Amino acid sequence: MDTKHLLEIMTFDEKVGQLLQIAPFFFIKHADVEIAGEVKDLGLSRKDIFHAGSVLGIGSAEEMMQVQELYMKNHRLGIPLIFMADIIHGYETIFPVPIALASSFNPELVKKTSRISAMEASTAGIHVTFAPMADLVRDPRWGRVVESFGEDPYVNEVMVQASVEGFQTHDLKDERTVASCVKHFAGYGASEAGRDYNTVDLSRIQLHNGYLNGYKKAIEAGAKMVMTSFNVIEGIPATVNRYLLREVLRDLYQFKGVTISDYDSLHQILNHGCAENDKEAAERGIMGGLDIEMASTCYIKHLKELVDEGVVDMKLIDEACLRVLDLKNDLGLFENPYRGANPAEANRLVMSKEHLEQSLKAAYESLILLENKDLLPLNKQVKVALIGPHATYDMTNGPWSWRGNQAHNTSLYDELKAFGVDVIHVNDQVDVSSYKEHDFKMIREADVAILALGEHVRESGEAHSKASLRLPRHQDDLFHMVKEHAKKIVTIVTAGRPLILNDVKESDALIYTWFLGTKHALAVVHTLFGVNQPSGKCPMSFPMHEGQVPLYYNHLNTGRPYQPQGHNEFTSHYLDVPNEPLYTFGEGLTYTEFHYGELHISKTEMTSHDTLDILVDITNVGEHPGHETVMLFIRDRVATISRPVMELKKWQKFKLNPNESKTIQFKLTSADLAYYNQEGQVVIEPGWFDIMVGPHAKDVQQQSFKLIKG
Ligand code: BGC
Repeated sequence: MDTKHLLEIMTFDEKVGQLLQIAPFFFIKHADVEIAGEVKDLGLSRKDIFHAGSVLGIGSAEEMMQVQELYMKNHRLGIPLIFMADIIHGYETIFPVPIALASSFNPELVKKTSRISAMEASTAGIHVTFAPMADLVRDPRWGRVVESFGEDPYVNEVMVQASVEGFQTHDLKDERTVASCVKHFAGYGASEAGRDYNTVDLSRIQLHNGYLNGYKKAIEAGAKMVMTSFNVIEGIPATVNRYLLREVLRDLYQFKGVTISDYDSLHQILNHGCAENDKEAAERGIMGGLDIEMASTCYIKHLKELVDEGVVDMKLIDEACLRVLDLKNDLGLFENPYRGANPAEANRLVMSKEHLEQSLKAAYESLILLENKDLLPLNKQVKVALIGPHATYDMTNGPWSWRGNQAHNTSLYDELKAFGVDVIHVNDQVDVSSYKEHDFKMIREADVAILALGEHVRESGEAHSKASLRLPRHQDDLFHMVKEHAKKIVTIVTAGRPLILNDVKESDALIYTWFLGTKHALAVVHTLFGVNQPSGKCPMSFPMHEGQVPLYYNHLNTGRPYQPQGHNEFTSHYLDVPNEPLYTFGEGLTYTEFHYGELHISKTEMTSHDTLDILVDITNVGEHPGHETVMLFIRDRVATISRPVMELKKWQKFKLNPNESKTIQFKLTSADLAYYNQEGQVVIEPGWFDIMVGPHAKDVQQQSFKLIKG
């Protein structure tokens, strides 16, 4: 389709219509979709509705086809709608939530799960997914931490890239792909006090050296759309922020795709106190660089007057409209407006055996073994007492799984029984007073007590921030009660955020599962009994106390750093809790042990044209096979701006059998030593750098080298 020609023959209303996104509700009142905001009437006329360029959320192929047909019959030029939806970690087959996938440290897995999600969702005629979320998060109080890849900019970048590649592949004309809309641009994960939708205040140095990296990577990977965030940046709502949307996105990143507001976020700039009325919001939006307005009507109602009054240049509307038309063209919608929608294919693909197997594999790699005092894996002959609120819980899909098919979900109890374990379900109450003598007796008589704790599925996600990070509803008390009676105790915590685990750390074994999706319970049972060898690692620091957050391993040093030894009165520390997290970035056990040989680097001086080789031998010295993830961090000792005490630059994950060794080699170039200045430009400064290699941020060996001019 010649979109430029199409633009020329479009009326003003038709053009502005392309910049409006509404729910399918406006076309069919019964549409079954999850929408995070309220579906409001919006006061749209029939004409406006049949000019709208895109739809948010659609339930099925049949619904999509019905809406598209109705729409095209009513559109003068027959320009098709584009259907967008939140396909975050699966369509009907649900995979682990993003924070869990990050724990796998396996980008191939992320790519694969995104690929399957796209294949399934596309059968319903979905063309764009509002994913991945590239918001860096360092505060577990924020409910949307569950949708993130955690606290590390590099992990975030790698996983975001894998996700975009999985959704889109390299061929958007293939109708089993979906275009990716990276969100929420920008800095949404830094909401003050971890409260959703709250203010964000980040310096440009912080933005460019951590918070923007993920979105930038998504764009480099070819993401077709960018969604703005609800927060302000430098006092200006991101939705109308010219610096973000024009200077960074268009000029610096050379982004050619479509920008879209978040739900109603253009209208919400009135609440931010940045527009008097919707007309002013429309003006700031289009001038700022916002193309599509989601679920509010500032553009459709006011752009006409603004152009007539000479306030807004028609060129801006043409540019935005053309970008939307080009996206439709890239997706092949002009040739096939029903792209993807195919009930027969949906039957064949959705929840297929292969997809369910992949969901299990992803779950295997995403859970984290945090403690194991010689207890796991369990022997199948053990007698198990199962206790706690998650014992019979099967809502394991996690937030943002609105189409998730629950039919295959099971509970730990179901899977323990199916696995042939001698298990007795004691009680799933949290309140300790509801446990009586016969409960205690069952716990005492079992060889192992499995205590299943955690958050309810609605305790994390959008608008689900929490001030307390303790296990909810006094579950620590339940732990103490069970521990008192049990011979051995395995605690399993299912949650959407890192919680405070100070008490349950005393378990004989502790597994952190997050929400693992359709195959959650089977993956946990297989891990308990050694069918699966756990390999996940913490993608975020687990605090000891809420007062420590934001808490992350890659912090700056301060002028008065705390010294592990020595006199510390006037150093940066707390009087009542340590600075350190309970579990640091990268921690996570396996059923075996790895021995690290000495760390070698190929030179102690290099120029910006050289490559540094970094080598370490790793041996599996335990009795089980296992996957190790070895991490390489650097520290730029002296730079113009203060740099983090350590930053992850590379990692490798590999499997070793008992007694097997492997030489791990990393290659570092000067590009890995770069940072961004305030303008977002890359800077490489000569000087000394430390290299740190090990299994996690608090267990590393160190070597140093100097970057010299030349
Ligand atoms: C969320 C977005 C989501 C959008 C559309 C908003 O409330 O912040 O992440 O993509 O709704 O459902």
